[in-house]
Amino acid sequence: MKVLVTGITGQLGFDVVNELNRRNIDTIAAARKDFDLTDELSIANFIKAHKPDAVIHCAAYTAVDKAEDEPELAMKVNGTATETIAKVCREINAKMIYISTDYVFPGDGDTPYEVNDKKNPPNAYGQSKLAGENAVINNLKKYFIVRISWVFGVNGKNFVKTMLRLSETKDKLTVVSDQIGSPTYTADLAPLLVDMVQTDKYGIYHATNEGFCSWAEFAAEIFRQSGAKTEVIPVPSSEYPTKAVRPKNSRLSKQSLDSAGFKRLPNWQDAVKRYLNERT
Ligand SMILES: NC(=O)c1ccc[n+]([C@@H]2O[C@H](COP(=O)([O-])OP(=O)(O)OC[C@H]3O[C@@H](n4cnc5c(N)ncnc54)[C@H](OP(=O)(O)O)[C@@H]3O)[C@@H](O)[C@H]2O)c1
Repeated sequence: MKVLVTGITGQLGFDVVNELNRRNIDTIAAARKDFDLTDELSIANFIKAHKPDAVIHCAAYTAVDKAEDEPELAMKVNGTATETIAKVCREINAKMIYISTDYVFPGDGDTPYEVNDKKNPPNAYGQSKLAGENAVINNLKKYFIVRISWVFGVNGKNFVKTMLRLSETKDKLTVVSDQIGSPTYTADLAPLLVDMVQTDKYGIYHATNEGFCSWAEFAAEIFRQSGAKTEVIPVPSSEYPTKAVRPKNSRLSKQSLDSAGFKRLPNWQDAVKRYLNERT
């Protein structure tokens, strides 16, 4: 099997390529220099030239707040480019994994979202990612949509790294405590995606680490495990305004993973532990 991965300079793409290499699967690792997602022709030319059996599309416009200022660019990268990739996959009969987000849901309530619950993104980034989902669904049969949240991995910027950096200089930190979700460690997700792409269990999945927490609880656990002395002061979102509205409820149900016989990821505290070990 030959698998093309996009976004290899990002957190998830980096670990997906590592996992494919570990399993000796023929891998085409595509970065921005190979094709820019705003350039439909070069996307199509590159993929058709390599004729992969599957595309794991990890690249995306991920700057959530900035997307409020440039929604057209976010839509072009996350919506239009995904449509182009989906159409090329159909043409060459390749499978596609599209990575999506909890931000496609409105973020209300306090129960986990099931894969087919009503979508209503609270911000421009979520709207662009939902456009990507719809493009995949409308153009392909052999697809997997995998929604994740609160991503952290060794290769790139993330909340864990930010907290560790801040803990070097701060005794106290205010962190939002009324947004509840689940962290996703890319080194845990990558093996699941590589398992998945080798099956024909197409469909929509949620695949975060197990367990729910607030950002404040996430920060406190990072400090506890790393030995940092910084105190976390929990605050409501209203005291930490951001350009893009964040969902209060990011809980995702793993029912469809269970039904398809895929193993859930380990719990998030365990993921933090392994991530901190890997960084040292
Ligand atoms: N980060 C999160 O918390 C989060 C949460 C939910 C879902 N997701 C989804 O998970 C997936 C992986 O996220 P991540 O955190 O690994 O992302 P990331 O670290 O921000 O990496 C994004 C990747 O996309 C590439 N990219 C961006 N714009 C591009 C363009 N115009 N042309 C070509 N490549 C472009 C980047 O390339 P450069 O290095 O060249 O910029 C980079 O390789 C994405 O689909 C994202 O939407 C992420």
